[in-house]
Amino acid sequence: VKKEEESKPIRVTVTGAAGQIGWVLCFMIAQGRMFGPYQKVILQLMELPAAEQVLQGLVMELKDCAFPLVADIKPTTKIEEAFDQSDVAILVGAKPRGPGMERKDLLNENAKIFKAQGEAIDKYSKKTIKVLVVGNPANTNALIASHYAPSVPKKNFTALTRLDQNRAISQLSDKLKTPVDDIHNIIIWGNHSLTQYPDVNHGQVSVGGKKTSIREAVKDDKYLNETFIPKVAKRGAEIISVMKKSSAASAANAACDHMHDWWVGTKQGEYASMGIISDGNKYGVAAGLIYSFPCECKNGEWKVVEGLAVDEFSKKKLQETEKELLEERKMALDI
Ligand code: NAD
Ligand code: LMR
Repeated sequence: VKKEEESKPIRVTVTGAAGQIGWVLCFMIAQGRMFGPYQKVILQLMELPAAEQVLQGLVMELKDCAFPLVADIKPTTKIEEAFDQSDVAILVGAKPRGPGMERKDLLNENAKIFKAQGEAIDKYSKKTIKVLVVGNPANTNALIASHYAPSVPKKNFTALTRLDQNRAISQLSDKLKTPVDDIHNIIIWGNHSLTQYPDVNHGQVSVGGKKTSIREAVKDDKYLNETFIPKVAKRGAEIISVMKKSSAASAANAACDHMHDWWVGTKQGEYASMGIISDGNKYGVAAGLIYSFPCECKNGEWKVVEGLAVDEFSKKKLQETEKELLEERKMALDI
């Protein structure tokens, strides 16, 4: 996008703006981490009435940064104001899990938030809105929001699994003692949960300008299948056990990566893992789930990377996480 075109501000809704993630995220967006260095934004920041005072403080701090990219800031506790004419919505506002919980345990409490926000998107936002759900359980919440926004295309609703992808890259970078940006095309399949499948089979590491497959470089299938996968899948719980609260800055950073790639485009040949609507024709995954696939993005549209070989081990993993998403969908329907 050209610099002149980017000067027209876009309306970006952030729910739960005064929470742990929302707070950091707002500064990242204001600095251009999400939409690039020229795109101006109008921040529509939504909070619950109980957090109104903290929201006021956030707005004061954002203003005191005098960010050139921030055209306006609209703090609100009213859903119709938050989603008014939105071009983008980052749905963060939801209850986080505590120690000993799984993310789907939050469904009961959080489902109603995403129903109400789906309805608001349907009624007040642009039909072209791009939605990223961060609040857990992110995949199923995205499905709920989309269900209640029938006038907005289902492809416009996505869920965050980029944090898992970043975690996977970081683990491999430590293992291989190589910089993170030398590691490419690590995929997260399925749910942002314990059943997710961090897949290295299509990944490469660049060594001295030459690309080697991850399996060849690590030379330790036992580590890759039995240590690496659970390490990535359980990282959220590990953070909670250490900090007594869930990840915040790394989640905000991943939300920026996800939306940045969707908005600006992925680099040539690089995959971005995104929870997107399954059409039933990709990798045997049931239609109508928000499932994380490897995607390539161009002109503001994502496209699933097709034709990747899936071995027996991976097939089982893809099915296991699909099964959990089917169960979560059923739970959501029951609620
Ligand atoms: P937090 O409790 O610090 O902040 C949540 C904020 O949302 C609070 O300020 C609260 O007042 C607000 N809120 C609650 N309901 C709202 C509503 N209906 N409308 C507007 N605001 C509302 O929590 P957090 O640590 O920022 O986490 C937020 C969510 O993100 C949790 O569900 C957490 O599990 C999830 N999360 C997801 C990922 C991911 O990778 N997908 C990563 C980290 C956290
Ligand atoms: C994470 O992955 O860090 C978040 O989903 C928070 C959590 O509950 O683990």
